[in-house]
This record gives sequence, C-alpha cells and structure tokens, in this order.
Amino acid sequence: MRHVVVLGLGLLGAACGMGGSVFTPPPSPGDFDVKRLDDLNPEPGVVEVELEARVATLEYLPGQPTEAWTYNGTVPGPALEANVGDEVVVHFRNNLPEETTIHWHGLRVSAEMDGVPTMQTPVPPGGTFDYRFTVKDAGTYWYHPHVRSDVQVERGLYGPIVVRGPQEPTLTRERILMLDDIRTSSGLGMGMGGMGMGEQVGNLMLVNGRARPIAEVRAGERERWRIINVANARYFRLTLPEHPFTVLGLDSGFLETPQEREEMLLVPGERLDVVVAADALPGQQFELVARPYNQGHMNMERVDLPLMRVHYSLAPPVNPPAVPQQLDVVEDPGTPSVVQRLRLTEDMGHGMGGTFRINDEVYPDITPLQARVGVLQQWDVVNDTFMDHPFHLHGFRFQVVGGVDGLRAWKDTVNVPAGRTVQLLIPFDGEAGRWMYHCHILQHAENGMMGEVVVAAP
Ligand code: C2O
Ligand code: CU
Repeated sequence: MRHVVVLGLGLLGAACGMGGSVFTPPPSPGDFDVKRLDDLNPEPGVVEVELEARVATLEYLPGQPTEAWTYNGTVPGPALEANVGDEVVVHFRNNLPEETTIHWHGLRVSAEMDGVPTMQTPVPPGGTFDYRFTVKDAGTYWYHPHVRSDVQVERGLYGPIVVRGPQEPTLTRERILMLDDIRTSSGLGMGMGGMGMGEQVGNLMLVNGRARPIAEVRAGERERWRIINVANARYFRLTLPEHPFTVLGLDSGFLETPQEREEMLLVPGERLDVVVAADALPGQQFELVARPYNQGHMNMERVDLPLMRVHYSLAPPVNPPAVPQQLDVVEDPGTPSVVQRLRLTEDMGHGMGGTFRINDEVYPDITPLQARVGVLQQWDVVNDTFMDHPFHLHGFRFQVVGGVDGLRAWKDTVNVPAGRTVQLLIPFDGEAGRWMYHCHILQHAENGMMGEVVVAAP
C-alpha cells in the first residue's frame, strides 16, 4: 500500500509499511544519542546550565523537515546530568509564542521550583526564570512544561535528567531512550477505531526524536538503558526478543537486587533502568518492540510495533563486565497513620474528549488533600473507569504496596488499571507546600483529572 502522509511541513510519499493505523518506516542508521547540557560552572557540586524553549525545524524522519517546539533546538532537549547532592541552576529563557514553565518530573525540589502554575507565574514569551534546586535521589527523571502540557509536550518539549549516586554499576555503555509517538497526519491515528476520549495517540514511534534508529552493539557488551515514556497517552509494553531485561531500578533509586523480566510495561511518565546483555552473535539483529496492550480506549494496535533495531557488529565478543548483585536498600516506609481514598471517574460527554474527575471534582475546582511533613500516608487510588490511568504525584516518592504486582522500588508514577485499586505508601518526607497529582495521560490531566495536596510543615 502506498500512502501520502503529511508530516508537519514535509510531505512523505515513500512506500512505507502500514501496520494497522501505525506508520512503520525502515530502520534508520546514524547517531541518535541525546545531547548533554554543558555545565557552565567549574565549581564541583554545582551544575549550572542554560535552557531555551524555542521553535525549530527538525527531522523526525530523514529528509522530512517538521516544525517542533524544542529545548535548545533539539527533541529531546539535552540531558541534565548531576550527582546526588549537587546544586542545580537552570537559566531558562522562553522564546515560544506562548507562556510556559519547566517541571522536573520526579525530582524532589521545593514547591516554588516545581514549575507548576499554582506556585510559579508562567514565564511569558521572551521572559526568563532561574530554577534552583538540590538533587536528592539517584535515578532517571525528565523535564517538561506544566502549562497546556497536552499541547506543549506533544510538540517536542521534553528532556531527560540523570542523577548519579555514589555506587553506580560500571557497564559497557549507557543509553538514554526517550519513547514518544507523534501523529503524522490528521487522517491517521487519533480519531479512528476505539478512541473515544480525545487522547493523543500517535502513529509514528520515536526513540530520542528518531523513527526506528539502530543501536549498534558488540557481542559481550552490557548496556545500561534508561528508558523514559514521554508520550502523551501511549503505553509501551517493551520486549527485546532473546534479551531479557535486568531491571536495576524504576522511577527513582535502585531496587535492592537486579530482577530479570522478559517484558516491562512503561506507562506515560514512568522510567525504567535496565541492563541489556548482548549475548547473541556478531552480525545478528533484533527489534525492541512495543507489544499490544489493552489500555481501554486506545486498544488499536494488534501487532508488535518496532521501536529500535539492535544490531550486532561483526567484531569478536568482548569480555562482559559484571552486573552487581546488591544494589541498594529500599527502606520499608512503615505503617501509615492516615489513609486517603482518591477515586478516578470519567464522563463520556459528547464527541471527542470527556471530563475526568478525582473524587468527583474537576481541576481546578477541587478541594486539596492535606498532609504533613514526616507523616506517612496511604493513598488508595480507585480506578472507577473502563481504562487504565497513569497516576503521578509531584514532590514526593511512594512505594506501591497493593493492587498491582510490581518490583519494590521508589516511584512517582504508577499505572492504575481499569476497575482496580492501587495502594501507595507516601512518606511525606520532602518539603512543605502545595503539590500536584494527576493522570499522566496529558489530555486527562488538562481535562480535570488533577488535584493538589497541601503539605504542612512538621
Ligand atoms: Cu510529568 Cu505533573 O508531570
Ligand atoms: Cu487518565
């Protein structure tokens, strides 16, 4: 089949495979590493960087220029890297045609630096703002706007954050993989099939802003992949044939010991820190794919979607570095003294889009929850809808203690499957202030499924 796909400014008329409603280009060689931010401050313990949000023309598919909204001209924006305990200063300039903020997804910063419009006046076009915070926890995080996030993130505003602790495993190489999907024409993807609620599901999969890049590996290597789902709505059920993932960590910090998994579900906002052992033969190749997952409304795909090709060079195998067997202690939060219930519901409404609620309220007309620094709470997040919702809390980490099986780890984003209740233990051990929580399907958040917790000083 031959399809003409309008891609931003470009026009694509090449013969391309169509898998259902999804557009599958051929694998594309070349470097696809995320750029890094330069640290402008020579002082140890201080990371000082510049970020500018601006419109740029780039190529998601080779030879197809597309207008995107970017940080420093690239999608993803450059990686912010720091060590635990570092002070980070970000000089931000907004050169977009509309106001914006930067939220540091997963970092425990102070409320004034969290980049949400309730705590910070959004930065107007031409304006600047300095973000300052200290990074507390090793892990993989990301930054993105918190103003019209369904539109701004979709246009390309996202970048990775890597925070290293004192005990990082030494492996052959580390890659950051930011998974996204975009819509390449109005006739495909969104609005077709079983989509009722206005979620933006794209029809072209991107890894670091590239469609189907090729990761070159050498037999024997041990690669560490920090995978981040930055899509507005798409769930990625990841698998790499013949290469089980050795999971080191989830959103924040390490597991206690590495755990092997054949596949991992990564919902919008979540991160995954894994080791991939290149134990196949020189010259072989494999596809990292997203397997079909029934999310509720958006169960359109019936086939595996290729995301990235892993290609073994012909070089002879190297000696594999060892993966440590002990990682870190994941502290038991203890017994909660407060239990709160958050019930997620939706109204179908007419046409596209609906209203999404938490405890029958639509943001911003909400009653904030209350908490106190140092007081452990349990939140029962009840999903009374027919689709899964990825629940995200700002400013604090939690452990998932009931409702879904998972690895014991610190998290800030968790899938709440349709019809189920997930229990979270939240030690409110960060900073006082007003903090948001919301569904990370960004259209749901922008259409009401968002709330606030007011955390009082101890
Ligand atoms: Cu990644 Cu409130 O968001
Ligand atoms: Cu949702």
